[in-house]
Amino acid sequence: MLTIDIGTMRNLLLILCAIALSTAELQEDTQPRKFPDGFLFGSATSAYQIEGAWNVDGKSESIWDHITHRIPCVLSNCDTGDVAANSYYLYKRDVEMMRELGLDFYRFSISWTRILPTGFPDKINEAGKNYYNNLIDEMLKYNITPMVTLYHGDLPQKLQQIGGWTNPEVSNWFSDYARVAFELFGDRVKYWFTINEPKETCNQDFATGFKDLSGIADYLCAKHVLVAHGKAYEIYNNEFRASQNGNVGIVLSAMWYEPESDKDIEAAEDAAMFEWGQFIHPIFSETGDFPNIMKERIANRSAEQGFPSSRLPKFSPEEVALVKGSADFCGLNHYYTFITYRNESINGLYESPSYHDDMNVITYTPNDWKNTESASTNVPWGFYKLLTKIRNDYGNPPTYITENGFDSMADGIVDDNRVSYYKSYLNAMLDAISEGSDIRLYTAWSLMDNFEWGTGYKSKYGLYEVNYTSGKFERVPRKSAYFYRNVLKTRVLDINFEPDMSVPICEEN
Ligand code: BGC
Repeated sequence: MLTIDIGTMRNLLLILCAIALSTAELQEDTQPRKFPDGFLFGSATSAYQIEGAWNVDGKSESIWDHITHRIPCVLSNCDTGDVAANSYYLYKRDVEMMRELGLDFYRFSISWTRILPTGFPDKINEAGKNYYNNLIDEMLKYNITPMVTLYHGDLPQKLQQIGGWTNPEVSNWFSDYARVAFELFGDRVKYWFTINEPKETCNQDFATGFKDLSGIADYLCAKHVLVAHGKAYEIYNNEFRASQNGNVGIVLSAMWYEPESDKDIEAAEDAAMFEWGQFIHPIFSETGDFPNIMKERIANRSAEQGFPSSRLPKFSPEEVALVKGSADFCGLNHYYTFITYRNESINGLYESPSYHDDMNVITYTPNDWKNTESASTNVPWGFYKLLTKIRNDYGNPPTYITENGFDSMADGIVDDNRVSYYKSYLNAMLDAISEGSDIRLYTAWSLMDNFEWGTGYKSKYGLYEVNYTSGKFERVPRKSAYFYRNVLKTRVLDINFEPDMSVPICEEN
């Protein structure tokens, strides 16, 4: 006789529920679907993840250079970004790949320490400036729009030594650096992302070492990241907007938290507010400031724990005003959906005080959403629900999908899982657009395999595979590159499209 334990039963119910949701809420249409006129497609990378040349031509050490050089090494295989995908030397090939795909834009980041080796604007490194000028000019030669992230994880180590993102002065260090970038590149760069993923920046235990001070350091960091962003936005408005006429915003990582049952709706909302609400609310809500739930919960817990004041730092009224509305668009990176609940099993689960203890929810990924060769889960309805919530709760801001993609531990270029992921996520995005979400662009993460932070080179997100063993870092298009290329060419999502990999991608141009 077949017996099913309660855990398995719960998982089965969740899966049935997920299937029901996905079919109920996403259009079942398998007809090709057109993207709106003017919709832009691109792909993205970041400096530390692809450039290599970590100590070349005057570049100084970033926190990731520092941490990956620790002895004993901290990552499996002792991976570092010392060479990464070697893009410092291979940027022309990178632009060629953008042309092969037919990208409208490419989102890359500037390495702070390549431009300002001291971390401060006292000395601009000419070689760093030249590298980004060359990359930008090469893209513009082929009508590919450069979109630039100013900060993507790689703080100057010198600034880390004096507190990094926990030091209130960091908002001036960052906005001084932003001014230099606007001055150097703003004549040609019209899309700026100040900071990639504040949440990960502040909770990046690995590189920042804030782990032991969770519930304190991560909140200080969150406040300073927001003020830094606000100052950079203000600088652009006051000093550059009139002459450069660009767009400036921030990139938030936003997951979807699905309540496990009706009892867990509040828990799922708390998770969303602690995870991405802490950054979207200060910028995009009508009131500004951190979400109320964070302010109340952390103040109460701090008092119970014997702290004389809340561990969540306060914004001054001037800071609230500086940050509120400080974005021309809302940049969203979306990767995961989690099931979320809260019950008595949470007591004592998290260290106290800590961010997770304050958030006070349990999240998990049902086994059946996982597959062995990937950490990604294909839950497009989570993406749809996230986009719908942002439209409804934050006044339908112009939204840029600044990252979305599928990772794989598997080698090889036939990446059917990734193709199917892109199909279903683009479909979910089209559903949100058809219901009124003001989504203007989509960015596939990533143009090529690269250094995937804590998992080094094991985890691959590339539309192009990078050969790390030949010494030449050849880039080879995967099936997903052919698929994406077709979307760009036709401006249509055709779920039934089967890429023909026998034709070299360059000949399709
Ligand atoms: C980051 C990328 C990273 C990607 C996949 C995003 O959180 O911005 O740098 O590679 O996720 O993990």
